[in-house]
Amino acid sequence: MKPVKVGICGLGTVGGGTFNVLERNASEIARRAGRPIIVEQIATRRDNPSCDTHQVACTQDIFEVVNNPEIDIVVELIGGYDTAYELVMQAIRQGKHVVTANKALIAVYGNEIFKAAEEAGVIVAFEAAVAGGIPIIKSIREGLTANQINWVAGIINGTGNYILTNMRDHKRDFTEVLAEAQALGYAEADPTFDVEGIDAAHKLTILASIAFGIPLQFDKAYTEGIARLLPMDIEQADVLGYVIKHLGITKRTEQGLELRVHPTLIPKERLLANVHGVKNAVMVYGDAVGPTLYYGAGAGAEPTASAVVADIIDVAREMATDQNNRVPYLAFSEVAQAKDMP
Ligand code: HSE
Repeated sequence: MKPVKVGICGLGTVGGGTFNVLERNASEIARRAGRPIIVEQIATRRDNPSCDTHQVACTQDIFEVVNNPEIDIVVELIGGYDTAYELVMQAIRQGKHVVTANKALIAVYGNEIFKAAEEAGVIVAFEAAVAGGIPIIKSIREGLTANQINWVAGIINGTGNYILTNMRDHKRDFTEVLAEAQALGYAEADPTFDVEGIDAAHKLTILASIAFGIPLQFDKAYTEGIARLLPMDIEQADVLGYVIKHLGITKRTEQGLELRVHPTLIPKERLLANVHGVKNAVMVYGDAVGPTLYYGAGAGAEPTASAVVADIIDVAREMATDQNNRVPYLAFSEVAQAKDMP
C-alpha cells in the first residue's frame, strides 16, 4: 500500500522522540497502520543530537513542510501559540491532517481549529497534549464512551510533580529542581506555565471538553500554581498526614461545570498522594464504571512521542476509511457553562 508521508515541524525534545520512535518501530508501525509511515521532511532551526536525520530532507522553514504536496500529515511540535496557530490553520487549508502535542494551542484556539478541520474534512489529533504518554483522551473518548462522566481529577503537570516530589522527599530547593526539570526536557519553553498552573489549566480545559462534550473554555479555569508553596507548607502537611499535590479538577455541579487547578492536600494513603516524580495520574469517574485511574510518564521525549505516534497511526488508519462517515473528533453536543471559582 502507498506509504503515508509525515512532515515533522520542530525537532526539540518531543520532535526528536517522535522521529526516533517512528524510525525504531517502523515495521511494527507499518503493520499496525496498514502501510508504511515515512518521515518525508523535517522543519527545524537546529539539529537534535539524539536523532540521525541525514536521510531526511530538512528545512528551517516550517511552511515548506506545510505546503509540501507530498505530505499527508503535518506533525506540529514547535509549541507556543502564534506560529503554531498559523502553521496548523495553513495545514488544514492545504487539506492535510494534523497531529499536535500543543496543549496551549488546543486549549486557546481549539474551537476555531476543529471547526476549520471539520469543514476541510481533515483530522486534528492531540493525544500528546494531555498527560504525556498516558492515552487519557482515547480512554475517555473511546474506553469510557458508554458513561456519563461525573468528574476528572489528576496530576497533569509532570514538572510540577517532579518539583513537589523532590522538595518533599529530598528536601531540595524549588529553583534547583526546576532547573533540573528544564534540563531533562520536562518543562515548557516558558517554565512559568508549569509552576503557575497554566500548563495544567490548558490540559484540564481539553479534558473537560472531551469528558463533557463542551467547547474549550480555558478562560473559565481557576488557575493557581505551586510557585508560592514554601518548604514549610510541605513539612506541615506531612506532619498532619497529607501530601501536597498540584491537581486539575473538573466536575459537574448544580451550578455548572467546575474547572480548577491548584495545590491540594491529599491524605498520604491515597493513590494520588503516591504519584512521584515526573509521573502523571488521572482519575475519571464514569456513572457506569465508577472511578478509574490512568498512570504513567507525564512528560519527556519518548513518552510524549508514544502519544504523537499513536495519533499518526490512527490518522493513517482513518485515511483508509470512508471519510464521510467519520465521527467528529470533538462532539460539541452539550454546551454547559463553566463556573468561575472564587
Ligand atoms: N511541561 C509539561 C509537563 C510537559 O511538565 O507536564 C508535558 O506536557
